Amino acid sequence: MPQRPYIVGNWKMHGTRAMLSEARAIDRAAQRHMKVEVALAPPYTLVHAVHREVEQIGVGAQDCHPAEGGAHTGDISAAMLADAGAKFVILGHSERRVDHGESNELVHAKAKAALDAGLRVIMCCGESDKVRTSGKAEKFVMDQLRASLPAMDDAGERLSIAYEPIWAIGTGKAATSEDVAQMHGAIRKLLIDMFGEEQGSEVRILYGGSVKPDNARELLGAAEVGGALVGGASLTADSFMGIALAAADLQEG
Ligand code: 13P
Repeated sequence: MPQRPYIVGNWKMHGTRAMLSEARAIDRAAQRHMKVEVALAPPYTLVHAVHREVEQIGVGAQDCHPAEGGAHTGDISAAMLADAGAKFVILGHSERRVDHGESNELVHAKAKAALDAGLRVIMCCGESDKVRTSGKAEKFVMDQLRASLPAMDDAGERLSIAYEPIWAIGTGKAATSEDVAQMHGAIRKLLIDMFGEEQGSEVRILYGGSVKPDNARELLGAAEVGGALVGGASLTADSFMGIALAAADLQEG
């Protein structure tokens, strides 16, 4: 793993203020492992509170609206997230693409808005079980990314990709390290094609889908894996930092 590994917790629709103690525990542990970049994306309602409670870890959100503001009841703009202390936003997660019918075009517009507001972007991609079985997973993911990613000249600094095969999310059935290495290699080629050698080779490509402390070392050790986007196992400091520790170990060789 040549770059500093990026271990991001996606709390999804979990967490009330009672969870702030976990965020503090994660932050304290992260201060002991500075070779790993640790971040949390809590639900909107906790973004500002987590931001105030932590010193070391990055804080982000799980979605934003593409408009700067306006008559959009129930929505949140990228500028509002930045104002609440968010430094990044996760976009194009399969749960949003499926539950809210988000198209590549909408995700593209959201990414532009997030970058304009000064946020970093974690762009998600990943195929369904049906697509994988049909043998078209790689083409599907490349098409999804090409259509979802906006042009930018500082991709290395402000963009990460999260490859999250849908069949591996919340199922306990992670992809094999061979499958991950193959897909991440294809994503790297696409990034270099879209953003040039210098920027494209700096973008960290995270794997997501049933990452746990006991499989983290193998998944994080696969070629072109620059970190992990973690759902269920990010909800407690113990399991989340188990994953960050595996990344730190690999970093130290
Ligand atoms: P799980 O780690 O719970 O499988 O979730 C992965 C995910 O969707 C992170 O965004």
